[in-house]
Amino acid sequence: MKTQLEQIKAAAAAALHGAQDLKQVDALRVQYLGKKGELTGILKQMGKLSAEERPVMGQLANEVRAQIEADIARRQNELAAAAMEAQLKAETIDVTMPGSKPAMGKAHPLTTVLDEVKEIFLGMGFELGAGPEVELDYYNFEALNIPKDHPARDTQDTFYISDNVLLRTQTSPVQIRFMENNKPPIRMISPGRVYRSDAVDATHSPLFHQIEGLVVDKGVTMADLKGTLELFAKRLYGEDVQVRFRPHHFPFTEPSAEMDAMCFACHGEGCRLCKGEGWIEILGAGMVHPKVLQNCGVDPEVYSGFAFGMGLERIVMRRYNIDDLRLFYENDLRFLNQF
Ligand code: DAH
Repeated sequence: MKTQLEQIKAAAAAALHGAQDLKQVDALRVQYLGKKGELTGILKQMGKLSAEERPVMGQLANEVRAQIEADIARRQNELAAAAMEAQLKAETIDVTMPGSKPAMGKAHPLTTVLDEVKEIFLGMGFELGAGPEVELDYYNFEALNIPKDHPARDTQDTFYISDNVLLRTQTSPVQIRFMENNKPPIRMISPGRVYRSDAVDATHSPLFHQIEGLVVDKGVTMADLKGTLELFAKRLYGEDVQVRFRPHHFPFTEPSAEMDAMCFACHGEGCRLCKGEGWIEILGAGMVHPKVLQNCGVDPEVYSGFAFGMGLERIVMRRYNIDDLRLFYENDLRFLNQF
């Protein structure tokens, strides 16, 4: 029996040494130490031994069991450590490998220039106003002194939704909404989308952007209009830009004017960019018509104001020498990546 026990101990040690994974180790544990295992099988024969032999063999059997258990534990630890090592090796990151560069988005040129325009006016104490793009006829036309039969309606090819509801053709209705909700003094700009039923070409789009401005206070004059807008032009285009004001007509301002900047390309000589004029139109402006003030509950005997409106696309086109408006809306990365 002693030889048998020694043999089992040696065989178990050898088998465990060769075990390649935890499953095999467990199978060996069952094979040697399990209820029907080899060691148990031998212990069952203890009854046949003499009273002197029994404690000796018992002790030896216990030693063998302890040895096999120790062998199992050691092999389990070895295999677990090896598995951990293999996993770490598989998961190592080579920090010297070149990384994949995340693609960075950037601001659309319309956004970049709009941000600049906003910054200029906010710096002068203006605040931002807003109004809906689906607008009532009253705000887009009527309250701006453009009644139903006014010829100015024909020049603004309006998308009507119903008789009284339309897509705003200009940001000017925000003037009315702002005056209805705010008491003077008012210094407000309102950028936004506007819509006109124009066919798409290099200079026309059914959707474009305007920036509206409104100043109302006691004693506001044409000098304030000129000073403010000239300063704006200098901030946007540089200190040496030359501007001029030309008389014009808008129903909601009186008097009205357009502001031109001297052509950046030819400096007044006349070229392709300015169509031989030497000057380029930047915006429309004027002193707010007394009727418009009245429509908003502002007393024209006490208050006066000036307003202005400009097309964002045109300003951006001039800034970057872009000759086709469609490029702004096509999202062609070959175009956008140039800014
Ligand atoms: N709303 C005008 C347009 O779309 C632009 C404009 C002109 C706005 C003069 C104004 C202004 O506020 O005073 O053509």
